[in-house]
Amino acid sequence: MTKSKLSTFFLLLFVLIMLPPHLFGQNSINVIIPKPQKNFPGKGKFLLAKQTRYFSNTDLSQNAIAYLQKHLKQNAKYLLRKVKVSKNKGIHFYYNPEKIKKSEGYRLHIEKEKIMIEARDKAGFFYAVVSLMQLMDPSIWEQSVSDRVKKSWSIPSCTIEDHPRFKWRGMMLDASRNFFSTEYVKKFIDRMAQHKLNRFHWHLTDDEGWRIEIKQYPLLTKTGARRGPGTKLPFSTYPAMRGPKNKVQSGYYTQDEIREIVVYAKARSIEILPEIDMPGHAKAAIVSYPKLLQDTKDKGHYRSVQKVSNNTINPGMESSYIFLENVISEVSGLFPFAYIHLGGDEVPKGAWKKSPAVHKLMKKEGLKNAKEVQNYFFARLDNILAKKKRKMVAWEEVMQGKTRLRQSDMIMAWKSQKAGIKIAKQRRNVIMAPVQYLYFDQQYIRSKKEPGHTWSTPVSTQKTYAFKPGNSSYIRGVQACLWSETLLNEKIADYLAWPRILALSEVAWTGQKKRKWKEFQKRASKEGLERLKVQGIHYRDVVPVR
Ligand code: ACM
Repeated sequence: MTKSKLSTFFLLLFVLIMLPPHLFGQNSINVIIPKPQKNFPGKGKFLLAKQTRYFSNTDLSQNAIAYLQKHLKQNAKYLLRKVKVSKNKGIHFYYNPEKIKKSEGYRLHIEKEKIMIEARDKAGFFYAVVSLMQLMDPSIWEQSVSDRVKKSWSIPSCTIEDHPRFKWRGMMLDASRNFFSTEYVKKFIDRMAQHKLNRFHWHLTDDEGWRIEIKQYPLLTKTGARRGPGTKLPFSTYPAMRGPKNKVQSGYYTQDEIREIVVYAKARSIEILPEIDMPGHAKAAIVSYPKLLQDTKDKGHYRSVQKVSNNTINPGMESSYIFLENVISEVSGLFPFAYIHLGGDEVPKGAWKKSPAVHKLMKKEGLKNAKEVQNYFFARLDNILAKKKRKMVAWEEVMQGKTRLRQSDMIMAWKSQKAGIKIAKQRRNVIMAPVQYLYFDQQYIRSKKEPGHTWSTPVSTQKTYAFKPGNSSYIRGVQACLWSETLLNEKIADYLAWPRILALSEVAWTGQKKRKWKEFQKRASKEGLERLKVQGIHYRDVVPVR
C-alpha cells in the first residue's frame, strides 16, 4: 500500500469508529441504572409523539402510565391518548403473569411501531416505564417549568427482561438532626423511584428533634421539635453540627402532610418505613414528657456516644409503655407498611443503673443485666406491634443476648457486614446497611474540603459499588443511610446522596455477576449524571478524585 492509500485507510477506519452505533443497527441502550438483568439491542427506533396512543388490559399499569404522562405533560406539553382496542401500534401494557414470573419484574420490548410492556404487578409496570424513560432524552426528567418543549422522543429498539435481586432496596433519610421540608422529602422519594429503590426509611425522631405530629401528645412537636437557645433541648443537641450557635432550628410533619407523602410514595412503588427511635436517642421525647418517660427517683447520670445526657426512655415504668403504645397507634394509622422501625441502637452504658423502677422490674421479671432489660423492653414493644398487625424493624443491637423478637421481624445490620452475616446465620431476617459501604453521611474521601462525617472510614462511590451483600436467604436486602448531623442544607444532602445512590441501586437490583465497576462508572458518569443534572441535583462527580 502506498503512503497515501494507507492514510486514506486509517482515515476511513477512524470515521467508522466514530460513527454512532445505531447506524450499524445497534442502539445505544446501555444507559439504564440500575443495569437490567437482560438487555438485547434491536434495530431502529420508536418515535414517541403526540399521535402515539397507548393501550392497557389492566389497572395495575395505572401508576406507571400516570408517571409517564406527568413527565410528558411537563416536558412535551401533551398527554398520550388511550385506545380501547389493541392495535399493532403504540404503547401496550399487558398483564402477563404466565410470562413474567418474578414479582416487580417486567419485559420491555421496543420496536419501530410498537412498545410492549408486560408485568404481573404495579411495581413491574412502574419499573418498565422508568426504564423506558431512561432510554429517552434525559430532558424527560426535567422538573422545572421550561419553555423548551420537545415534541418527539426517539427511543432505541431493544428487549429488556428484568427483575430485582432484592425485595428490600432501601434508603434512609434522617429528618431529626436537620429537618427537611415536605417538598424535599417528595423529591428524595421520587429520585429513589427513578432508580428502582422501594423502601424509604424515614428517621423521624432522635435526640435532636421529634418530627412527627402525634395528636395525643402535642408537646412532642411543640417542645420536642425545637432546638437552640431558649428551647428545652440541652446544648448537647445544638447547635447543629457545623451550624450557627444562636439559631433555633425547628420543624415537623403534620399528619396530613404524612398521609400525602405516603400516597405520593405509593404511586411510585415505594413503601415508607417510619422510625421512632427508642429507648435511646429519645431526648426530644423526654424533654417533652419527662414524667412519663423517666424515673424521677433515678439519680444516675450517663451520656450517649453523641454526648447527649440521660436520653433513654425508662423501661421500668408502665407510663413508658402506655405512651409508646399510643404513639405506635397513631404511627400505624398513618403508615400502611407492614413494618415499623423502633430503633434499638446505641443505648448508653449505665442507663437505668440507678433507677429504682428498673431495679424493681429486674427483680419481678428475673432480669439479670441491662441487655436482658432491653430485651424485655423490646419483647413488650413487639407485642404492641403485633396487636397493630405490624412487624418490627430494629438496629442490630436488639440481637444482644437472647432476643425475644418474633421470627418475622427484621434486623438492620449497620456496624459491619460481618455483623449482618452473623445475624443471618442465626436465621434472622437481615437488611445489610454496613457503615463502611452504605453510610452516605460519611465523606467520600478524607479531606477538609469535603462535606460529611468523619467518624468512620470514607465511603467513595466505588466503595459502595464494591459491596457484595452475601448469599444467605436471610439477607432480605440492602439499605443506605443518610444521617443528617452535617446536612445543613439540601445542597449538602444532595451532594452526599448522589451519585452514591446510583451505586446503591445497582447493588440492590442487579445480579452480582452483571456488575462491573468500570462499565458502571462510564454509564453513571454520563447518562446517570445527565439525568441528575437536568433535575438540578447537586451531585458529586463519579470519578474518584485522586
Ligand atoms: C446507628 O448508626 N446508630 C444505627
